[in-house]
Amino acid sequence: PSVVILISGRGSNLNALIDHAKQTGVYQIRAVISNRPSAAGLALAQAAGIDTAILDHTEYDSREAFDAALAGLIEQYQPNWVVLAGFMRVLTEGFVNRYLGRLVNIHPSLLPAFPGLKTHQQALDAGVRVHGVTVHLVTPELDHGPIVDQAMLRVLPGDTPETLAARVLELEHQIYPRALSALASGRIKTVDGRLEGTLTLP
Ligand code: GRF
Repeated sequence: PSVVILISGRGSNLNALIDHAKQTGVYQIRAVISNRPSAAGLALAQAAGIDTAILDHTEYDSREAFDAALAGLIEQYQPNWVVLAGFMRVLTEGFVNRYLGRLVNIHPSLLPAFPGLKTHQQALDAGVRVHGVTVHLVTPELDHGPIVDQAMLRVLPGDTPETLAARVLELEHQIYPRALSALASGRIKTVDGRLEGTLTLP
């Protein structure tokens, strides 16, 4: 199964996904696309010999126009899966529906708690004792799609948004490759954008 990965920045999840692809061969990364020309993740992809492209959203008048161009670029690679890895743009309903059931995202909270931005601050403000990360299928409602996998940690005394982010990120790097492998290999199946059957990740 083939994958196109969308990024906006650092690319540490991208790096974990590249490593896993190299080690297991369960999925092939055909291309990495960034909406920001300065995204550090582009260099990681290039170093791994993966095609990269920049689609600068500031050059488009509307979300619809940007998403149409994005879909056109993705179609050049005919991927089975489109994977968001720190892609910091809300996608239009048209785009999401086009890839429904094959569009995956990672979100740094235990959804359905704390959708949107600043999730670690939201967790501290709410006083939760556990926090974590969610891999989910993308549906038109932001951060609300079917949950593929989650991992959690305890919130510790003295935690700040930064310390939480750092520990959550380690979990992200563990579960994203594993969840994508489960989807790509068909161990988890999707039907009409929903997950089918019982989830049995190791
Ligand atoms: C991660 O925390 C991810 O969950 C969020 O954005 C961050 C991206 O980090 N959506 P990176 O670019 O993968 O290092």
